[in-house]
Amino acid sequence: MLKYVRIALWSMVALVAAYTLYAYIQVKDMDTAPMPLSTERVASNDDAATNGSFMPIAGLDPVGNFTLTDHEGKPFTQDSSAWQADYKLIYFGFTFCPMICPTELQKMTQVLNDLPANKSALIQPVFITIDPERDTAEAMAQYIESFHPRFIGLTGTPEQIAHMASLWKVYYAKVDDDSLSEYTMDHSSYIYLQGPEGDILGLFRMKDSAAEMTEYLAKIIP
Ligand code: NI
Repeated sequence: MLKYVRIALWSMVALVAAYTLYAYIQVKDMDTAPMPLSTERVASNDDAATNGSFMPIAGLDPVGNFTLTDHEGKPFTQDSSAWQADYKLIYFGFTFCPMICPTELQKMTQVLNDLPANKSALIQPVFITIDPERDTAEAMAQYIESFHPRFIGLTGTPEQIAHMASLWKVYYAKVDDDSLSEYTMDHSSYIYLQGPEGDILGLFRMKDSAAEMTEYLAKIIP
Protein backbone atom coordinates (compact mmCIF):
# COMPACT_ATOMS: atom_id res chain seq x y z
CA MET A 1 0.00 0.00 0.00
CA LEU A 2 2.75 2.38 1.05
CA LYS A 3 4.44 1.67 -2.26
CA TYR A 4 1.42 2.96 -4.18
CA VAL A 5 1.32 6.09 -2.08
CA ARG A 6 4.97 6.64 -2.85
CA ILE A 7 4.40 6.09 -6.56
CA ALA A 8 1.46 8.49 -6.49
CA LEU A 9 3.52 11.12 -4.70
CA TRP A 10 6.43 10.80 -7.12
CA SER A 11 4.02 11.06 -10.05
CA MET A 12 2.74 14.30 -8.63
CA VAL A 13 6.25 15.64 -8.21
CA ALA A 14 7.03 14.70 -11.80
CA LEU A 15 3.86 16.41 -13.02
CA VAL A 16 4.61 19.61 -11.14
CA ALA A 17 8.17 19.59 -12.47
CA ALA A 18 6.93 19.05 -16.02
CA TYR A 19 4.40 21.84 -15.69
CA THR A 20 6.98 24.21 -14.25
CA LEU A 21 9.27 23.52 -17.17
CA TYR A 22 6.38 24.02 -19.58
CA ALA A 23 5.41 27.33 -17.92
CA TYR A 24 9.04 28.43 -18.03
CA ILE A 25 9.29 27.68 -21.74
CA GLN A 26 6.03 29.56 -22.35
CA VAL A 27 7.42 32.59 -20.55
CA LYS A 28 10.74 32.42 -22.40
CA ASP A 29 8.69 32.43 -25.54
CA MET A 30 7.40 35.90 -24.79
CA ASP A 31 8.92 39.25 -25.69
CA THR A 32 9.25 39.92 -22.06
CA ALA A 33 9.60 38.98 -18.48
CA PRO A 34 6.58 37.16 -17.05
CA MET A 35 3.44 39.16 -16.41
CA PRO A 36 2.79 39.67 -12.73
CA LEU A 37 -0.70 38.28 -13.00
CA SER A 38 -2.52 36.01 -10.67
CA THR A 39 -4.14 34.42 -13.71
CA GLU A 40 -1.56 33.51 -16.26
CA ARG A 41 -4.04 31.62 -18.38
CA VAL A 42 -5.18 33.68 -21.30
CA ALA A 43 -7.50 32.76 -24.08
CA SER A 44 -6.28 31.00 -27.07
CA ASN A 45 -8.52 31.56 -30.04
CA ASP A 46 -9.92 28.12 -29.58
CA ASP A 47 -10.96 28.72 -26.00
CA ALA A 48 -12.64 31.95 -26.87
CA ALA A 49 -14.31 30.55 -29.96
CA THR A 50 -15.73 27.50 -28.24
CA ASN A 51 -16.63 29.01 -24.88
CA GLY A 52 -17.51 32.48 -26.05
CA SER A 53 -15.64 33.69 -23.00
CA PHE A 54 -12.52 32.98 -21.04
CA MET A 55 -10.95 33.69 -17.73
CA PRO A 56 -10.20 37.40 -17.56
CA ILE A 57 -6.91 38.82 -16.33
CA ALA A 58 -7.34 39.47 -12.64
CA GLY A 59 -7.79 43.14 -11.88
CA LEU A 60 -8.13 44.21 -15.51
CA ASP A 61 -10.14 47.42 -15.74
CA PRO A 62 -10.63 48.15 -19.44
CA VAL A 63 -13.33 50.75 -18.77
CA GLY A 64 -11.32 52.82 -16.32
CA ASN A 65 -10.84 56.53 -16.91
CA PHE A 66 -7.56 57.83 -18.29
CA THR A 67 -5.93 60.85 -19.89
CA LEU A 68 -3.29 60.43 -22.58
CA THR A 69 -2.03 62.34 -25.63
CA ASP A 70 -2.65 61.15 -29.17
CA HIS A 71 -0.08 61.12 -31.96
CA GLU A 72 -1.28 64.54 -33.11
CA GLY A 73 -0.48 65.95 -29.69
CA LYS A 74 -4.15 66.27 -28.68
CA PRO A 75 -5.51 65.14 -25.32
CA PHE A 76 -7.09 61.72 -25.49
CA THR A 77 -9.40 60.17 -22.88
CA GLN A 78 -11.91 57.35 -22.58
CA ASP A 79 -14.47 59.84 -24.00
CA SER A 80 -12.53 60.53 -27.21
CA SER A 81 -14.37 59.48 -30.33
CA ALA A 82 -11.77 56.95 -31.46
CA TRP A 83 -12.15 55.19 -28.12
CA GLN A 84 -15.92 54.92 -28.77
CA ALA A 85 -15.35 52.62 -31.75
CA ASP A 86 -17.45 49.45 -31.70
CA TYR A 87 -14.34 47.33 -31.42
CA LYS A 88 -10.76 48.10 -30.61
CA LEU A 89 -7.55 46.17 -31.10
CA ILE A 90 -5.13 47.49 -28.52
CA TYR A 91 -1.41 46.88 -28.18
CA PHE A 92 1.05 48.25 -25.64
CA GLY A 93 4.69 48.51 -26.72
CA PHE A 94 7.37 51.00 -27.71
CA THR A 95 8.73 52.37 -30.95
CA PHE A 96 12.34 51.36 -30.25
CA CYS A 97 11.30 47.71 -29.91
CA PRO A 98 13.48 45.89 -32.43
CA MET A 99 11.18 43.01 -33.31
CA ILE A 100 8.17 41.99 -31.25
CA CYS A 101 6.22 45.24 -31.35
CA PRO A 102 6.58 45.79 -35.10
CA THR A 103 5.63 42.16 -35.69
CA GLU A 104 2.49 42.44 -33.58
CA LEU A 105 1.47 45.80 -35.08
CA GLN A 106 2.02 44.35 -38.54
CA LYS A 107 -0.21 41.43 -37.54
CA MET A 108 -2.96 43.84 -36.49
CA THR A 109 -2.56 45.64 -39.82
CA GLN A 110 -2.83 42.35 -41.68
CA VAL A 111 -6.00 41.40 -39.78
CA LEU A 112 -7.61 44.75 -40.59
CA ASN A 113 -6.71 44.33 -44.26
CA ASP A 114 -7.90 40.74 -44.44
CA LEU A 115 -11.27 41.13 -42.72
CA PRO A 116 -14.29 42.02 -44.86
CA ALA A 117 -14.30 45.82 -45.20
CA ASN A 118 -17.56 46.28 -43.29
CA LYS A 119 -16.18 44.43 -40.27
CA SER A 120 -12.73 45.97 -40.46
CA ALA A 121 -14.29 49.44 -40.45
CA LEU A 122 -15.78 48.77 -37.02
CA ILE A 123 -12.35 48.21 -35.48
CA GLN A 124 -10.09 50.96 -34.17
CA PRO A 125 -6.45 49.88 -33.95
CA VAL A 126 -4.61 51.48 -31.02
CA PHE A 127 -0.91 51.49 -30.14
CA ILE A 128 -0.08 52.71 -26.62
CA THR A 129 3.53 53.30 -25.63
CA ILE A 130 5.03 52.06 -22.40
CA ASP A 131 8.15 54.15 -23.12
CA PRO A 132 6.82 57.72 -22.81
CA GLU A 133 10.33 59.08 -22.21
CA ARG A 134 11.31 58.49 -25.86
CA ASP A 135 7.92 58.05 -27.50
CA THR A 136 6.73 61.59 -27.93
CA ALA A 137 3.57 62.32 -29.93
CA GLU A 138 5.79 63.07 -32.95
CA ALA A 139 7.67 59.80 -32.56
CA MET A 140 4.37 57.92 -32.34
CA ALA A 141 2.99 59.72 -35.41
CA GLN A 142 6.02 58.81 -37.44
CA TYR A 143 6.05 55.22 -36.21
CA ILE A 144 2.41 54.33 -36.86
CA GLU A 145 2.79 55.44 -40.48
CA SER A 146 4.41 52.06 -41.11
CA PHE A 147 1.19 50.30 -40.16
CA HIS A 148 -2.53 50.46 -40.88
CA PRO A 149 -3.59 54.04 -41.78
CA ARG A 150 -6.32 54.09 -39.13
CA PHE A 151 -3.92 53.42 -36.27
CA ILE A 152 -3.87 55.88 -33.41
CA GLY A 153 -0.79 56.19 -31.24
CA LEU A 154 -1.10 57.20 -27.61
CA THR A 155 1.53 58.51 -25.24
CA GLY A 156 1.50 60.59 -22.07
CA THR A 157 3.46 61.48 -19.00
CA PRO A 158 5.18 58.59 -17.23
CA GLU A 159 2.45 58.80 -14.56
CA GLN A 160 -0.37 58.72 -17.14
CA ILE A 161 1.20 55.72 -18.87
CA ALA A 162 1.71 53.96 -15.54
CA HIS A 163 -1.97 54.49 -14.74
CA MET A 164 -3.09 53.18 -18.14
CA ALA A 165 -0.81 50.16 -17.81
CA SER A 166 -2.23 49.42 -14.38
CA LEU A 167 -5.81 49.50 -15.75
CA TRP A 168 -4.83 47.06 -18.49
CA LYS A 169 -2.51 45.00 -16.32
CA VAL A 170 0.39 45.60 -18.66
CA TYR A 171 3.80 44.74 -17.33
CA TYR A 172 6.72 46.90 -18.40
CA ALA A 173 10.15 47.79 -17.07
CA LYS A 174 13.13 49.75 -18.26
CA VAL A 175 16.23 47.62 -18.86
CA ASP A 176 19.66 49.14 -18.88
CA ASP A 177 22.12 46.95 -20.68
CA ASP A 178 25.72 48.13 -20.70
CA SER A 179 26.31 46.43 -24.04
CA LEU A 180 23.67 48.67 -25.66
CA SER A 181 23.97 52.37 -26.24
CA GLU A 182 20.25 52.83 -25.58
CA TYR A 183 18.12 51.36 -22.85
CA THR A 184 15.42 48.89 -23.82
CA MET A 185 12.05 47.91 -22.36
CA ASP A 186 10.71 44.63 -21.11
CA HIS A 187 6.98 44.40 -21.60
CA SER A 188 4.12 41.97 -21.83
CA SER A 189 2.86 41.41 -25.34
CA TYR A 190 -0.84 40.89 -25.85
CA ILE A 191 -3.26 42.22 -28.42
CA TYR A 192 -6.51 43.01 -26.65
CA LEU A 193 -9.84 42.91 -28.47
CA GLN A 194 -12.27 45.20 -26.71
CA GLY A 195 -15.96 45.03 -27.55
CA PRO A 196 -18.76 47.60 -27.66
CA GLU A 197 -19.56 47.32 -23.96
CA GLY A 198 -15.93 47.68 -23.00
CA ASP A 199 -15.62 43.97 -22.38
CA ILE A 200 -12.52 42.10 -23.48
CA LEU A 201 -13.52 39.64 -26.19
CA GLY A 202 -10.09 38.32 -27.03
CA LEU A 203 -6.53 38.36 -25.87
CA PHE A 204 -4.09 37.32 -28.57
CA ARG A 205 -0.61 36.12 -27.93
CA MET A 206 2.41 36.20 -30.17
CA LYS A 207 1.76 32.63 -31.28
CA ASP A 208 -1.69 33.55 -32.62
CA SER A 209 -1.35 34.15 -36.33
CA ALA A 210 -3.00 36.91 -38.32
CA ALA A 211 -5.09 34.26 -40.08
CA GLU A 212 -6.33 32.83 -36.76
CA MET A 213 -7.13 36.29 -35.47
CA THR A 214 -8.95 37.21 -38.65
CA GLU A 215 -11.04 34.08 -38.48
CA TYR A 216 -11.91 34.73 -34.84
CA LEU A 217 -12.80 38.39 -35.42
CA ALA A 218 -14.90 37.56 -38.47
CA LYS A 219 -16.94 35.26 -36.23
CA ILE A 220 -17.23 37.68 -33.30
CA ILE A 221 -18.11 40.82 -35.27
CA PRO A 222 -21.63 40.71 -36.68
NI1 NI B 1 8.22 45.13 -27.88
